[in-house]
This record gives sequence, C-alpha cells and structure tokens, in this order.
Amino acid sequence: MEQKINRSVFRDLSYGLYIVTSADEGRLNGQVINTLIQVTSEPPRVAIIINKKNFTHELILKSKVFSASVLEESTPMTFLGPFGFRSGRDIDKFSKVAFKEGVTGCPLITEHTLSVLEAEVIDQIDLGSHTIFVGNVVSSEVVKEGTPITYQYYHQVLKGKSPPNAPTYEAKK
Ligand SMILES: Cc1cc2nc3c(=O)[nH]c(=O)nc-3n(C[C@H](O)[C@H](O)[C@H](O)COP(=O)(O)O)c2cc1C
Repeated sequence: MEQKINRSVFRDLSYGLYIVTSADEGRLNGQVINTLIQVTSEPPRVAIIINKKNFTHELILKSKVFSASVLEESTPMTFLGPFGFRSGRDIDKFSKVAFKEGVTGCPLITEHTLSVLEAEVIDQIDLGSHTIFVGNVVSSEVVKEGTPITYQYYHQVLKGKSPPNAPTYEAKK
C-alpha cells in the first residue's frame, strides 16, 4: 500500500507520564514511560511499551513483574532526569528516592506519585525495537490526591524532550 504519513499527527496523541519499575534477584530499576494504558477492566490489565535496550526491559523479561507510579503534575525535571535519560546499568536510581517494596517485589516509588499499581506479565508482543508487556494488575493503591502530569505538560511547560529509546521519539531532520 502506498504510504502517506504526516508525523505531526503523532504529536496530537495524548499520554500520561509514569515511572515503571521492576526487580530481579535483588537488582532494582525504573524508567520513565508515557506508554501505559489500561487494556481491560475485568480482569484489570495494563500494557506498557519498553525499549529492548533498557535495563528495565531486561528485569521485566526475567522477573515477569512490573510496577507503575502515576506522577503528579508538579514533578520536577531533576526527579525525572535520572529515570528518563540515564540507565540503571550506570547509576543506582533508587539511592535518593522514596520507595517501598510491593507484593511483587518491585520497588514502588512514592515520591511525586499519586498512585501505584503492580502487575504480573501475562503476555508480550515483540515489536522489533520495543516489547509490549501486558500485565494482570495484582495490587493498586492511591498515595495522594492530585493532578497527574501529562505528556503534553511535560513538553509544553517543563520543556522536556523524549530520548531515542522512547517510542514517541522524533529524530531531528
Ligand atoms: C518523557 C519520556 C518518555 C519516555 N517514554 C518511554 C517509553 O514509553 N518506553 C521506553 O522504553 N522508554 C521511554 N523513555 C526512555 C527511557 O525512560 C530511558 O531510555 C531510560 O533511560 C531507560 O532506563 P533504563 O536503561 O535504566 O531502563 C521515555 C523517556 C522520557 C523522558
């Protein structure tokens, strides 16, 4: 089929912003994602899209569990930076953030967080550069009331960028 793609269309898509974490054999890690959606209600299931190069991908593949923290609008760039632009292969992202251990063993980030959920992976789809992990939600809790940050707010107000490993990355022409 002939392709006629205007990539500006992708900028009109709406997302939230989350930190996904996982843990395997005592190794903890987490990363920023915008690609989390609820995919079914009964049973409650979510899907996330993770780049295969990411350390978080390695941990989810091995442990088959992940958590997600829904970030608040006032989350500063200084907090997002290590989770969105550094790899847990190079730094310990948990040395300076507040978290607790969840029922899956994943670290649940409680700082700048409105709510957290944990899921067990029940299916995955290989997309080449990325994997879609689908998980059964096994636990979820509200940490505090507030306004969740959106991907649009991150770009327009915080003037944040999306790195190459993000599915929504746009290479400069
Ligand atoms: C705003 C934003 C959105 C992102 N969305 C995703 C995403 O949906 N999926 C993904 O794999 N990476 C995404 N990333 C990139 C990862 O957070 C980044 O590559 C991170 O450094 C990976 O860390 P790790 O190697 O410790 O797992 C995003 C980054 C930012 C800043």
